[in-house]
Amino acid sequence: MNSNVGRCFSINDLRTRAKKRIPAPVFHYLDGAAEDEVTLRQNREAFSKYQLVPRVLRDVSSIDTSTSILGQKSSMPFMLAPTGMSRLFHYRGEEAVSKAAHKAGLIYSLSTMSTFSIEEVAGFSDGPKWFQIYVWRDRDVLKSFIERCKASGYKALCLTVDVPVFGQRERDMRTGVTIPPELTFQSLIDTLIRPQWLWQYLRSSRMELANVRGHSSVSDDAFVLAEYTNAQFDPSVDWAAAEWMVKQWDYVQGRCPAGCGYRGDGYCGIQSRWSSAGSQFR
Ligand SMILES: Cc1cc2nc3c(=O)[nH]c(=O)nc-3n(C[C@H](O)[C@H](O)[C@H](O)COP(=O)(O)O)c2cc1C
Repeated sequence: MNSNVGRCFSINDLRTRAKKRIPAPVFHYLDGAAEDEVTLRQNREAFSKYQLVPRVLRDVSSIDTSTSILGQKSSMPFMLAPTGMSRLFHYRGEEAVSKAAHKAGLIYSLSTMSTFSIEEVAGFSDGPKWFQIYVWRDRDVLKSFIERCKASGYKALCLTVDVPVFGQRERDMRTGVTIPPELTFQSLIDTLIRPQWLWQYLRSSRMELANVRGHSSVSDDAFVLAEYTNAQFDPSVDWAAAEWMVKQWDYVQGRCPAGCGYRGDGYCGIQSRWSSAGSQFR
């Protein structure tokens, strides 16, 4: 383990470390949320309302935190949620996260917007994997994702339903983050003072949306995420589209362990930071 990471004892320590280590546009993409970031704050507050109730004077010398999620064993009652463009944060991106999940006995969910492909990630470890899917306007792209996931042994599809249009992420609008990062004068200065990130970025292969690599309907120029997703994702997605997706998956698997992410109320839906992995619709 990287010794600096070894000195991080909480999520906040990791956040502080990330802020020092990665260029500001990338950090704000990772750390930020839509509009005034109300939902982000509310989500955190919601979690802080839960407390663990200690049950004292019990033998805890041997404990079992394992459970099963959609029929798959997990060493702890959570899984690693999908994050797009993970190689922005660290050059090993989804490779490192999927291997870490496997090592910890957790399920890993790969994002549609990943920087390693469905097949590459399947080859990184034998751990159970799910695929998070957005509904693309081009249904051939969508069908090919589903077929590739089946062929690569992914165990579930997580349909993200809270991004019919991309949220107004104001931090990203200010920093002008693009994928792959474009070194403008301002971002170059910011990047030069983070030489380790820059060195690894320059040494690794070109960052791209690996799952649409070579797909003719998708450009591989540097892009701004909001513009890209609004152009590619289908805003007309409704229950019928969800049902179509369930059928595509069912065809081989015999059942559809699909999940969907949503925020519970309209306001949150508009403000939504990202999808939250969570409730199943079937
Ligand atoms: C940097 C970043 C990238 C994300 N990328 C995706 C994505 O590509 N697809 C998706 O469905 N959710 C994505 N999410 C949402 C997460 O999977 C997760 O549902 C959300 O962050 C809520 O969990 P949290 O409160 O622990 O952050 C992303 C979140 C972050 C912070």
